Amino acid sequence: MDHQTDPLALQAEALRRRAEGQRIGFVPTMGYLHQGHTSLMDIARSQCDWLVVSIFVNPLQFGPSEDLDRYPRDPEGDAAKCAGAGVDTLFMPQHFYPSDHSTSVAVAGLTDGFCGASRPNFFGGITTVVSRLFGIVQPSVAVFGEKDFQQLAVIRRMVRDLAMPIEVIGGPLIRDTDGLAMSSRNRYLTPERRQRALSLSGALKHMQALLSQRGAGTSAETLLAAGREILDFDEFDYLQIVDPDTLKDMPIIDRSARALVGGYIGGTRLIDNMALIP
Ligand code: PAF
Repeated sequence: MDHQTDPLALQAEALRRRAEGQRIGFVPTMGYLHQGHTSLMDIARSQCDWLVVSIFVNPLQFGPSEDLDRYPRDPEGDAAKCAGAGVDTLFMPQHFYPSDHSTSVAVAGLTDGFCGASRPNFFGGITTVVSRLFGIVQPSVAVFGEKDFQQLAVIRRMVRDLAMPIEVIGGPLIRDTDGLAMSSRNRYLTPERRQRALSLSGALKHMQALLSQRGAGTSAETLLAAGREILDFDEFDYLQIVDPDTLKDMPIIDRSARALVGGYIGGTRLIDNMALIP
């Protein structure tokens, strides 16, 4: 596996490979990799000739009181995981943005609710960094996890709206054996808080079971009330049932629907989601 830190050198290699007709696969990450990330690499690996993974903790997507400085890092462990997943080039930029970087990319509407409502800089930071990463890596296919369901919808919309010639694939959310959605932030949880964090997947599974008992046509409010009973947040952010493409609330659950949940336990932000009707 190659290591690259220079954005323009990586771009030059990407352009050369594109010109040779190679298909470039890309998985962008912020590091502290786990099985959720390596599952995305497996998907990308099967779709491309050259697989690039980036590790960059993007300051633009963190708010002033968020965990940028203490965001977990493990460069050596990450490199070993990437090598094990058959990554060709690991991109860990030292200087990512030009010093006078002054362009931002924003997707309106889809970014208003859920994580966007409580984290005003978040999605603008993501679409800006991902646009630049796409410009550097020149991917034919990019894989993002369904764990960050709103992020995936926002990236798909950006790629469509800006006519970027990139296929975006969503990789299934991966859970630990106890049901907790894998996340780099899970390491902040004490054993007691981790136990409470199981209430996210518990609430979603309960809503899923209730819907299959009551059948299609059940009101969202019935399912949401049942889910809220189970959640054990210190700070509740949202629990909503939405159309998976538009992320618009669905009052009656009679077709493809996704439940999304987010909030804080002991200062750690946790999100999860589940298809209620695939
Ligand atoms: O999902 C993430 O890890 C980040 O939001 C991403 C896509 C790498 C952009 O910084």
